[in-house]
Amino acid sequence: ITTQVAIMGAGPAGLMLSHLLAQAGIESTVVEIRSRADISATIRAGILEAGSVDLLVGSGIDNVLRNGHEHEGTEFRVNGESHRIDFKDLVGQSVWLYPQNDVFDDLSARREADGGDVRYSCSDVSTADLTGQPKVFFTDSDGAQFELRAQILVGADGSRSHCRFQIPENERTWYFNEYPFAWFGILTEAPRSADELIYANSEHGFALISQRTDTVQRMYFQCDPKTNAADWTDEQIWEQLRARVNGNGFELKEGPVIDKMVLPFRSFVNAPMRYGNLFLAGDAAHTVPPTGAKGLNLALHDVKLLFEGLDSFFSTGSSALVDSYSDRALDRVWKAQNFSYWMTTLLHTVPTEENHAFFRARQLGELRSLLESEHGRAYIAECYTGWQGK
Ligand code: DHB
Repeated sequence: ITTQVAIMGAGPAGLMLSHLLAQAGIESTVVEIRSRADISATIRAGILEAGSVDLLVGSGIDNVLRNGHEHEGTEFRVNGESHRIDFKDLVGQSVWLYPQNDVFDDLSARREADGGDVRYSCSDVSTADLTGQPKVFFTDSDGAQFELRAQILVGADGSRSHCRFQIPENERTWYFNEYPFAWFGILTEAPRSADELIYANSEHGFALISQRTDTVQRMYFQCDPKTNAADWTDEQIWEQLRARVNGNGFELKEGPVIDKMVLPFRSFVNAPMRYGNLFLAGDAAHTVPPTGAKGLNLALHDVKLLFEGLDSFFSTGSSALVDSYSDRALDRVWKAQNFSYWMTTLLHTVPTEENHAFFRARQLGELRSLLESEHGRAYIAECYTGWQGK
């Protein structure tokens, strides 16, 4: 197969890029090792920045407007006391609750309807000639072997990226940070507990009350990274959530836990996001801890910039925009890295902190400084909604 752009990975980043390229008349083939059903069933975060919604809707993927929910603010609960961050009032922006699975389903359905070349369930995938004419070797779901030749290879193959490992060590830098905790995430069959998301800081640790539908909700609480989700009963889970969130007349609406998992926490960046004719986008190049839901939004922003570069390259022959892709993408990657790290530090209790009493009192001082100040709340709102116009 010969194509203009070979894309590794059919997650939201790979499919969004393939979709945008198709609209600009640029050919691509997407190679993915997981099955479509498997990706669709993988539960990820649920918040889209306004800019992510604009990118989707502007390219004709507009289910989010019908099935998503616009959130004009969020709640910070500190020791049971509620503080609203009014995004709309503070920075004139909002976010949308629309799960990543739904973004994937919308994009995969649209690529299929448009006759896009997306190969799920591939195996034996390898790459070659990244500084010349890139090639991807793979076996498709029927067992047929292919050599895919392209002018550009895009690694949108997620946090366990094959493509990232093809960059020679002396051509890249890896930045890494680990955290002493993880999130216990559940889906529960229950009505919504509140209209907006609740980020709770308490002496018992962090909790996040999010939503999915009228009858299914998503919630998380800070836990030890060695926690085995299967060991926990529904009652033990609700005990943790109640202790961290309930109080001052507020009570979570509870129901059966229908899914539970432990999410690891780490920060990672691979820079630059390019090697020869290989370009990395999304989790393949960077991972953020989940606090603040930046992962998917960063991936979509990478894709927007990379698409602009590739569109200019294929239509004019000028490589100026692809050459500046990595610097422009990393500019936002490091803002999001900082925000995810900072929100995490602001809201979680640190189990390994030797000076625990100092850390906790200082943290409450930081929270008061922020939440009592319109500037502080506006800073949170600006980062959370995605630095619109910047
Ligand atoms: C969700 C996840 C997040 O990490 C977050 O900050 C907000 C919402 C979610 O899964 O709904």
